[in-house]
Amino acid sequence: MAFYITTPIYYVNDAPHIGHAYTTVAADVLARYHRLKGEDTWFLTGTDEHGQKVMEAAQARGVSPQQHVDELSQPYKALWARMNITYDDFIRTTEPRHQAVVKRVLQELFDKGDIFQDTYEGWYSVYEERFFTEKDLVDGKDPLSGREVEWIAESNYFFRMGKYADQLRQWVEDHPDFVQPETRRNELLGYLKKDVGDLCISRPKARLPWGIEMPFDAEYVTYVWFDALLNYASAVGIDSDPERFAQLWPASYQLIGKDILTTHAVYWSTMLFAMGLTPAKHLYAHGWWTVEGQKMSKSMKNVVDPNLLLDAYGPDPVRYFLLREIQFGADGDFAHEKLLTAYNSDLANDLGNLAHRGLSMTGNWLGGVVPEAGEDAGTDADLKATAMKAVADYTRLLEEASFKDALEAMLVMVRAGNNYLQVEAPWALNAKGDTARLKTVLRNSLEISRISALLLSPFCPDKGAELLGKLGIAAPRLADLQDFYGLSDGAALEVGEPLFPRMKELPPAIQAALDEAKAKAPPAPKKKKKSPATRTKKAKKKAPVSFDDFQKFDLRAGVVTAAEPHPDADRLLVVTVDIGEAAPRTVVAGIASKYAPADLVGKTVIVVANLEPATIRGVDSQGMILAAGGKAIESLATTFDAIVPGTVIR
Ligand code: MSP
Repeated sequence: MAFYITTPIYYVNDAPHIGHAYTTVAADVLARYHRLKGEDTWFLTGTDEHGQKVMEAAQARGVSPQQHVDELSQPYKALWARMNITYDDFIRTTEPRHQAVVKRVLQELFDKGDIFQDTYEGWYSVYEERFFTEKDLVDGKDPLSGREVEWIAESNYFFRMGKYADQLRQWVEDHPDFVQPETRRNELLGYLKKDVGDLCISRPKARLPWGIEMPFDAEYVTYVWFDALLNYASAVGIDSDPERFAQLWPASYQLIGKDILTTHAVYWSTMLFAMGLTPAKHLYAHGWWTVEGQKMSKSMKNVVDPNLLLDAYGPDPVRYFLLREIQFGADGDFAHEKLLTAYNSDLANDLGNLAHRGLSMTGNWLGGVVPEAGEDAGTDADLKATAMKAVADYTRLLEEASFKDALEAMLVMVRAGNNYLQVEAPWALNAKGDTARLKTVLRNSLEISRISALLLSPFCPDKGAELLGKLGIAAPRLADLQDFYGLSDGAALEVGEPLFPRMKELPPAIQAALDEAKAKAPPAPKKKKKSPATRTKKAKKKAPVSFDDFQKFDLRAGVVTAAEPHPDADRLLVVTVDIGEAAPRTVVAGIASKYAPADLVGKTVIVVANLEPATIRGVDSQGMILAAGGKAIESLATTFDAIVPGTVIR
């Protein structure tokens, strides 16, 4: 069985934004990962080109719908090329290969009585392209978009969706991992508890001429969703290449946004049942991006254009950030500063630093070729165990589309790699002429870079390949991760420039766009709350302390190994921190308003290690974690470079 993955097909009424890029990058990462595994992989994306919204967009531009869709599908293709998206096929619903399938399916369902004609009266929302009942309306308006609705009474064709509702309920019960994540599955089960009605699947041409003509009645075109959903089958040869179709259907993963769960989980699944087919193995509904806390919308003028991000960073950091910042199933917020921070901390400081240190030291002291490793000593065995665990975690997590956690598994290993260099101190080995041990340490560090590059490559294909190239590997496979040692003794290394040069401030292109937006924005309403900057300025100055008093503090760098909510206080987290002692410490910290436990694991924090222990709401706390801000925490304090837990902060 092949690995078949799909994205929604995007409406061509607008330019692509980061929401569209998000699903497509996620699908690309999974496609690349499965190709690395050596699987027969097929990745489909495309554009949704019929329906009222598209027709109105064409009218607004004063061009024919066909000219409009031909032109507006291009920015999607161009963006995917810039983002290194390796789709195998790009379907457009105006293509003959798709239209033929839609007509064939309609005719077949009509012939078997699953499509019937009836008169329908109801409130119609042009925006949502669907009918609502009186009780659905909110203040007399479309309950989803809040826009005007019009009363329409007309004869239409209906798909007997209700006939397949029980089969669908059973399917969802029997396949707990069909709809993901769990919250969306529960949402679907709730929806299915109610009566599932039949679906109006035609629009009279008199009202909407832009669509696929119904094969049994030339007065009507097909409802855009019934048409669009069939792309997942028409593009992989349901009629033209049944053998290939049998290899690819049911799809392995259909990725969608949470807003189009019902159309996929209910309309599409029942359509498939009517066609004698089964739903995809997994239907994953991801969350939505907001921008600095606001819904992204044209009228808010806050739509983030992926092209701007690509101008500033190139494809890899953007791809990385989209999947690293938020859990795939959850909503998240975009801010330019967050992208810059993720770039600097994960890519420049952690991963880039590890690779550059290993390569430079080997270049300087060992002739720039892969050194041979000797027997394990020091912390070698721990490092290897950490690496193999990271590979196992990453693989398991990517199989279930947990992108953020898979990247975190990789970063745990990268940080361990940096710590290994601190602890084994190759510079000291070089200074005392212990070449045998120096070789082993640098070889082990280079292997961590190799494994990181492989794990990174589905997310950051250019940088992954660049790092593998520096290490002398041309054609990577996932099977190369089975062994810790994968480099060839004596192979030439290339040091070159750091992979991810650190960026001190926002890239000029981004800053210029932000300045321009600010200049255009209406003056902000006066805020009651003081901005963080003013608060800090006004914070009361404290009396001077002597240097001797300051010296009394034992401040240490610590790495968070676990964190959980405090059992008895919403404001507090119970954080476990490794500060280089025999056992990690437990510290109760008032940071829950700012951080979730998962945000902290693996982060370097600064701990006041000699604070008297205290019991805080029933939990013993052995120290304090430093943070910036007043009553409201603004950021935890951390270190500029990766350092070994326990290092003294002076
Ligand atoms: N044409 C339909 C899909 C038909 S599939 C047979 C459609 N198109 S869309 O262009 O409006 O949206 C496509 C996808 O983009 C949806 O999955 C939607 O969830 C996603 N996103 C749109 N805005 C988004 C965010 N702000 N954040 C994340 N994803 C978002 O619906």
